[in-house]
Amino acid sequence: MSTLTPTPTAQVYELSVEVPQGEVIRYDLAKLCSALNVNDPTRIAVETDGLRRALITVYPSNPLGVVRAVTRADLVMDRHGRIVTGLYHNGRPVKKRLFDPSTGSAQRFLLFGTTGAGKSRALQLELIAEKLNGVCTWLADLKLGQSVPEADGQVDWYACSQEETILMLMAAVAVAQERMRRYSAAGRNSFALGGDPLLHVRIDEANRLLERGAPYRDLATHLIKELGRTGRSVGVGIGLSAQASHLEELGGSDTLRAMVKEGEVTLLRWSSSMMRQLVTDGLLPAGEQLMPIPKTLAPRELRSQFDPEPDHDEDDAPGTQGMGYLLSGPRPTAMMRHLRLGSIAPLPGLDPDILALYGDDEPTRLEDISHDVAGQAYAARTDEEAMAELCAAFHEAQQQKLNAGRGPGRSAATEDGDADDDGPSAPRKVRLDERVLAALADAEAPMSADDVLDAVHADGGREVKLGSVRNALKKLADDGTLTRAGHGLYAPA
Ligand SMILES: Nc1ncnc2c1ncn2[C@@H]1O[C@H](COP(=O)(O)OP(=O)(O)O)[C@@H](O)[C@H]1O
Ligand SMILES: [Mg+2]
Repeated sequence: MSTLTPTPTAQVYELSVEVPQGEVIRYDLAKLCSALNVNDPTRIAVETDGLRRALITVYPSNPLGVVRAVTRADLVMDRHGRIVTGLYHNGRPVKKRLFDPSTGSAQRFLLFGTTGAGKSRALQLELIAEKLNGVCTWLADLKLGQSVPEADGQVDWYACSQEETILMLMAAVAVAQERMRRYSAAGRNSFALGGDPLLHVRIDEANRLLERGAPYRDLATHLIKELGRTGRSVGVGIGLSAQASHLEELGGSDTLRAMVKEGEVTLLRWSSSMMRQLVTDGLLPAGEQLMPIPKTLAPRELRSQFDPEPDHDEDDAPGTQGMGYLLSGPRPTAMMRHLRLGSIAPLPGLDPDILALYGDDEPTRLEDISHDVAGQAYAARTDEEAMAELCAAFHEAQQQKLNAGRGPGRSAATEDGDADDDGPSAPRKVRLDERVLAALADAEAPMSADDVLDAVHADGGREVKLGSVRNALKKLADDGTLTRAGHGLYAPA
């Protein structure tokens, strides 16, 4: 049964369809386009109730071809902690949660898309919102500061190198742990706005930090997981934007899986394998489909191979940058587009419209009481020379550890891995974890703690106790990096 309702403009058609009771509605977008004789799939939107009914909207042209510019008012949090970041195809606002006042939870943010899909611009929109809403932002721009150049000076900490990003992550973990101690000493069990500011750590191009072969992959993975775990209840949020065709590329194992399930996830133009993975991961209800986002809105028309070339060039067609899906929103399959922010055409310098939205105020700073635990790196964040030295020292220390791990004569380190007291200058706590993981990764079969101990000693590193290995195994299994493969046996997840 279906009804075809022309809307007042007589151009948009809304089709409401249902399957008989006892059946579940399923659809195939390509077949639907064919049935409706629509050659541009981005003109069609399908929304189902997950059961028997669906609404099919057919637009005369892609309704998101042009969207309005963002205003400051869009970016001020409403009482549910949401800001307006874009518009859905039906013109309704896309609301993204910057904070959850009902639970006091800091959010986790994920932004996926291929190069040019609009990740950095979408991130910048949120950075502006953070500034306007008094969030203290620590930003890492891993394209050496090219991606969100206007943010320099508009955030509390702006990092451009891998080393500085690691120091930043360590400082954030330290702040989260210190807040936890402070809050529990004060008998508080949750975070609320008004005291310490929300602290958001944002990493653009996080794939550069987390992909295979990245210099600090394991450490970064560990720190991000740690932040995801401890930060939430103490007002420390984490956001990553990345291009990736698989979640596995980002830190391996389960780093992002949990974040993806609970976070604010935005998917811009993506690869099809990424989409399949998100569906397998249960992020999209089974049977739901996302219309792939083309690179441009060039109409696809068939013309004879022997006709003269049309005058309009494919390259002149409007792009689809900023189009995507807010998977964690109430309408995960409804195509949306981010509000326009700044110039679409490249500019020679900083974008004045973007700077104007940030405004001239000072950004919110980290609470004084946490400066000590945030450590040397935090203190040096605006001192280029001091930061370069810290980064060089960190790099050197990592190199030494790597070398030491391959041969005898390593310096003593805190192998027992009590993470709590490690400040930003002491990235040693992952040593044993790393050795244990390496041992298990090399093994063909699941291993017992005794086996792991032998394997760890075989790497030529410092002697450790069985108890420490057991603790490390337990921790890694609890956070999902390892799985328990039978009684007392462990394997990589
Ligand atoms: N919301 C937006 N408003 C205006 N222009 C945008 C928007 N999103 C993307 N663009 C345009 O697309 C280009 C690429 O976007 P960008 O955010 O740098 O992509 P990514 O970070 O995914 O590679 C930008 O330089 C800009 O010209
Ligand atoms: Mg970018």
